[in-house]
Amino acid sequence: MSVLVTNLGELTTNDPELGTLTDAAIVLDGDRVAWVGHARKVPATDTRVDAGGRAGLPGWVDSHTHLVFAGDRTAEFGARMAGQPYTAGGIAVTVEATRAADDDQLRAGLRAHVAEAVAQGTTCIETKTGYGLTVEDEVRSARIAAELVDEVTYLGAHLVPPGADADEYVALASGEMLDEVAPYVRWADVFCETGAFDEAQSRQVLRAAAARGLGLRVHGNQLGPGPGVRLAVELNAASVDHCTHLTESDVDALAGSTTVATLLPACDLSTRQPLPPARRLLDAGATIALATNCNPGSSYTSSMAFCVATAVLQMRLSVPEAIRAATLGGAQALRRPDVGVLRPGTRADLHLLDAPSATHLAYRPGVPLTWAVWHSGSPARP
Ligand code: NIG
Repeated sequence: MSVLVTNLGELTTNDPELGTLTDAAIVLDGDRVAWVGHARKVPATDTRVDAGGRAGLPGWVDSHTHLVFAGDRTAEFGARMAGQPYTAGGIAVTVEATRAADDDQLRAGLRAHVAEAVAQGTTCIETKTGYGLTVEDEVRSARIAAELVDEVTYLGAHLVPPGADADEYVALASGEMLDEVAPYVRWADVFCETGAFDEAQSRQVLRAAAARGLGLRVHGNQLGPGPGVRLAVELNAASVDHCTHLTESDVDALAGSTTVATLLPACDLSTRQPLPPARRLLDAGATIALATNCNPGSSYTSSMAFCVATAVLQMRLSVPEAIRAATLGGAQALRRPDVGVLRPGTRADLHLLDAPSATHLAYRPGVPLTWAVWHSGSPARP
C-alpha cells in the first residue's frame, strides 16, 4: 500500500543531496520511503494526503529514555525546586517501586509512555533497564522493553543497590546479570559518576559487555567533570550521554571520535544543572544528539519538541542544527542508518507539523504542533 503525502510547504530530509525541499512530496510504500521530490512531479500511488502547506520532517529519534519503571517522584521534584540538590540516590526509590510492580503494570506504564511519545512525533525510541538491579528484575525489565521499543539497553550498573557491596555488585553486573540480560538487549550502559560507578568499575562492566557482543553507551559528566567521556571514547562507545560538565580535552576527544555526545537539556533544567555546551561541541566538530532522558526522577518529559526549543532558545543552536540532532543525531547515537533520514529506502517515519516551517518548533515553544505521524509507514496519529 503506497501513500503520497503532497503539498508540503517544507520537507526536512537530512539527506545531504535532497536537503530541505519546499513545495515537496513524499511517497511511503509499506514500511519504507519510496520517493522524495517536488510536488509537481509526483508518481502514482494508492492514497493521497494533502498536507496543506504544512512542514514535514523525519520522526524524532529519542535515543535516551528510562521507561521501564513504576512509582512517582513528585515529592523529590518539589524538594529540588525548593533548593535540594539532585543526587543519584533517588534512583533507589524507583527501584523499590519497580520491583514491587507486576509485569502487567510495568508493561502498561511503558506502553503509555511510548504512546505519549509517538503522539508527539517520536518514531524511534531507546529505553533502558536499570530500575531492577537484581538478575531477575533486570531480565524482566529488558524482556518487557524488548516487546515494545526499537532499542533496548542494559543498565544494571545504574546504582549499587542500597545495602549491597559495591565490588560484589560490579562482579554481578559484569557477570551473571549481564549474561542473563544479553539476549534481550543490543546495548550496555554504565552510570559513570561520583555516587554511582567509578572509572574502573565502569570499565569492567563495559568491557564485559563488549566481550559479549553488545554495543556500548555511557552516562557521563552529568553532575560534574569526570572520566565518563574519556572512557566512552576509549572504548568506542556509540554515545556518551549527558555531557553537561565538559573540559576542553573532553570536547577535543569527542570531536576526534565517532562517539556521539547525547545532550539531555530537559534533565539539566529539571535538576537545576547548567545546560550542556552544545555550541562548543558542534564548533569543535563533534556529533551531537538531543534526547529526552524521560524518567521519573531527573527528567519526566517525553517531549522532543521541548528539547529542540530549549536547544535553540537557550543553547544557541540554529533550528536546523537542533532538528538534525533530534533526528539524525539520535540515529547516529544508535548506529541506525535506517531512521532519522527521509530518502528512498529508509524507514517510513514521517512527522508533519501544523505549521508552515519547522522553525515554528522554536518560534512557538510549548505549543503542541504535531499534526500527523507515520511510524514504519502506518499512520500513528491522528
Ligand atoms: O539519566 N543519571 C542517571 N540516570 C538517570 C536518572 C534516573 C533517576 O533519577 O531515576 C538519568 O538522569
